[in-house]
Amino acid sequence: MKKGQIGIELGTKHLRICTKEKEQFLRIKNLIAIDHQGKIAATGNEAFLMYEKEPHEIQMIAPITNGVIGDYTNMRLLLSAIMQKYFRHFRKYTVNVASPVDITGVERRAFYDLIWESVRKLRDVRLIPKPILAAAGSGIDIYQPSGNMMIDFGAGTTEISVMSLGGIVKSRLLSYGGNQIDQWLVHRMKREYNMNIGRKSAERLKIQYSKNENEKSTVIKGRDLVSGLPAKKTVMISVAEEKVKDYIHEVTMEAKAILEIIPPELASDIMVHGIYLSGGGASFEKIGLWMEEELGIPVHAAKQPEDSVIRGLKMLMDEYK
Ligand SMILES: Nc1ncnc2c1ncn2[C@@H]1O[C@H](COP(=O)(O)OP(=O)(O)O)[C@@H](O)[C@H]1O
Ligand SMILES: [Mg+2]
Repeated sequence: MKKGQIGIELGTKHLRICTKEKEQFLRIKNLIAIDHQGKIAATGNEAFLMYEKEPHEIQMIAPITNGVIGDYTNMRLLLSAIMQKYFRHFRKYTVNVASPVDITGVERRAFYDLIWESVRKLRDVRLIPKPILAAAGSGIDIYQPSGNMMIDFGAGTTEISVMSLGGIVKSRLLSYGGNQIDQWLVHRMKREYNMNIGRKSAERLKIQYSKNENEKSTVIKGRDLVSGLPAKKTVMISVAEEKVKDYIHEVTMEAKAILEIIPPELASDIMVHGIYLSGGGASFEKIGLWMEEELGIPVHAAKQPEDSVIRGLKMLMDEYK
């Protein structure tokens, strides 16, 4: 039987899968819809289309919470379904999984078990620290004897890590990310505009702001809390600003705290090379600038930062046999 390699990144928002053979990778919403009998109603991007529109008898589940497997049973159902759909040919796979560093032994073990139970014809499972992958995917030479700081802005987590010589020196997993900005926007629209909007609309508003933070308005759809009827309202996209800046500021302070406790030689390397950013939340146009102002250190956001980890996974896998 032919051998193959698969790389998997299990994000709060997206599941990304690459193989050694193919240049492109899969990017699927990490979401599963379960009907009242406990059967799968939809998975991935199809489930996302139903999200916030689903009838009562369908339960919508995002099985990854705070970067770890929060709902093991449903994560296994989802991953098995995806493997069935895309990887049915006859190969025996080694699966490389991107995993956060700052998690417990039990949480780490769950990643192994998940792969063993979801992938048929498995040869081996390898867990690779996500920050190392994000760094490789950002073009950093991870094996150099030089300190690097990587910050990954995910949907449910933000991970700050320092690495050197291909290993992790220090890593902190914060249990908040882009989702919290969306949630805050939902509340803000209620409070200030008497409008009930969905999380998807909130995210769209945030992304519009991220691309153009100048005073610009947009039309947002939702339900008027006074009349109870569907309504459209024109809002300034800058409503997102307060929370976005708060979030970035908080992360910057955490990064500063880490810079203060790592060995000084590494800290001075980082002062020179700067800090690297990855994850979808690193797409805010001025994120680098905001952080530089506070830290006085250069900050580089990757191009297409949400794909840094899977790019790195693909690069490292190409080195493996
Ligand atoms: N252009 C953008 N501006 C701001 N945030 C963005 C942008 N694009 C994606 N995001 C946010 O990034 C997060 C998703 O990033 P991703 O790295 O795919 O998440 P995860 O790895 O946790 O699944 C979401 O919170 C999403 O709203
Ligand atoms: Mg990510």
